[in-house]
Amino acid sequence: MQGAALLTNKPNTIRKVYGMDDFNDPYYQFIKMIEQHQDNPFFPRIYRHSIYKNKEFRLSGIHSYFMTGVVLMEKLQPLYGGRIDNDTIVAMFENLGLKIDTPDDLYSMFEDRKTIQKVIEKTTNDTFADALRMLLSSGRRSYDLHSGNWMIRLTSVGPQIVILDPVYGSDINSIPDEQVRRMSFELVA
Ligand SMILES: Nc1ncnc2c1ncn2[C@@H]1O[C@H](COP(=O)(O)OP(=O)(O)O)[C@@H](O)[C@H]1O
Ligand SMILES: [Mg+2]
Repeated sequence: MQGAALLTNKPNTIRKVYGMDDFNDPYYQFIKMIEQHQDNPFFPRIYRHSIYKNKEFRLSGIHSYFMTGVVLMEKLQPLYGGRIDNDTIVAMFENLGLKIDTPDDLYSMFEDRKTIQKVIEKTTNDTFADALRMLLSSGRRSYDLHSGNWMIRLTSVGPQIVILDPVYGSDINSIPDEQVRRMSFELVA
């Protein structure tokens, strides 16, 4: 995401304001995708998603985007550094058939298509595998699933892992090979 998460006066709801230049924006596409899959508990609940086409978004300093997106999302808890102790985190991933000992393990395990494909084969949880297949369906090559981009939903049957923010702003990695080659050719030509 390229934006900010803000508190709201609605219970258990946060507002995210982000910038995008066009409708291929990876965060916009991610929110659109999970809106279609709200039955998958590994994705955040989305209550509203609006795009303001004529509203420039300025994040910090000089960088600005042509359009502003606003998402109302359920409020979640941090995975690391919050109320969950490390043994519980290890056990939650063990329940998915995965071994995560330190926060850094997450980033490398979900770094790109190849490693995510391995997790899909390894996980014992079909719903988690579905969520990962949906991430791959965007076509992008690398992901941004460091430990800060995972969250927890506290439920009456225990904590649920949630994928918060799997992509980063610049989307060069999701451009097909051929297009990248052509672009680099144009840059040096
Ligand atoms: N749904 C949420 N509930 C609670 N905190 C959130 C939520 N979404 C984001 N945050 C807080 O904001 C931080 C950044 O959110 P994120 O979506 O990863 O955007 P970015 O990567 O652009 O900073 C998170 O690490 C978390 O601390
Ligand atoms: Mg993030």
